[in-house]
Amino acid sequence: MSAAKGVETLRYASGALELLDQRRLPQTIDYVACRNAAETAAAIRDMVVRGAPAIGCAAAYGVALEAMHLATQSRDRFAAGLEDGFTVLRESRPTAVNLFWALDRMRAAWKKSADAAPADVAQRLLDEAARLFREDLEVNHAIGRHGEALIPDGARVMTHCNAGALATAGHGTALGVIRSARDAGKRISVIANETRPYLQGARLTAWEMVQEGIPVTLITDNMAGHLMRTGRVDVVIVGADRIAANGDAANKIGTYTLAVLAARHGLPFYVAAPLSTIDLAIADGSGIPIEERDPAEVTGFRGVRWAPEGVSVANPAFDVTPAELVTAIVTEKGVVRAPYGQGLRALFGV
Ligand code: MRU
Repeated sequence: MSAAKGVETLRYASGALELLDQRRLPQTIDYVACRNAAETAAAIRDMVVRGAPAIGCAAAYGVALEAMHLATQSRDRFAAGLEDGFTVLRESRPTAVNLFWALDRMRAAWKKSADAAPADVAQRLLDEAARLFREDLEVNHAIGRHGEALIPDGARVMTHCNAGALATAGHGTALGVIRSARDAGKRISVIANETRPYLQGARLTAWEMVQEGIPVTLITDNMAGHLMRTGRVDVVIVGADRIAANGDAANKIGTYTLAVLAARHGLPFYVAAPLSTIDLAIADGSGIPIEERDPAEVTGFRGVRWAPEGVSVANPAFDVTPAELVTAIVTEKGVVRAPYGQGLRALFGV
């Protein structure tokens, strides 16, 4: 599936997971090959691949690759090696629950075929990773279908970070809603927030929208309030990395600020995310682990340093938007509104 004009976010080819190197976009289109769990975990940690559902897909392939790597070992060595693979993948990034969801699913597939020979288990895990990837694509299209009904014709839609094809198996969550609205014949324009410090909005969302032919205006994050106050935004839609049982939603740092601004200006604030992003085991947003990233992401970019040596830096990569600021959560099973506790549980039939 294409992120943009034949460019795939991740693909499996000749015994390797090939990841579009998102650190180098939009200037360079290049792929990084991962052949085992450790290489895949490093690619996730270093942001070669990023975005909650894409991280989950990559981790699933990471498990399958590790299993293939160990396929000629004894059962005991296979099991021990695969456990190590799970561990290194679990430790790659903490916030997006899709990572842990995908690993749990791969573990369940492993346990189901635990009596089989290692080579057979490896093949089944590879099949499971491919299935998870295909399903994510279908899920994103379903999110798009449900979400586009919320977007009026002519809407100017603000989004933050990149919740697009690059962050998923394809189509995207928040950008999937925008794509589906455009495909439904609506005239949509996008306001992409730059998304400091890692610039996923400027580098990735703006690139996806330009490739797609959807009108997009890039702003720096601190312009959002001014645009809302001067009547130039109709809707805000973002993705999520983890949604707690009460509807509190963790997403890229700066999302909370946008939600507060949207409430202040009476604008709808939508979160688009698959069920694999919903973590019913966490009661509210205070339990969501927030990744703290390298200070170098704040003091400079791509080797250029603008902050003085010796300054202390905070770099939380995500923030939590309280459910009370979320107008609705768009999932592949439909649109959920407050009270979220009840609505989210109903999605899982519990
Ligand atoms: O640090 P990133 O780039 O992995 O953060 C990504 C986001 O915050 C996305 O909005 C989120 O994962 C949803 S992707 C469909």
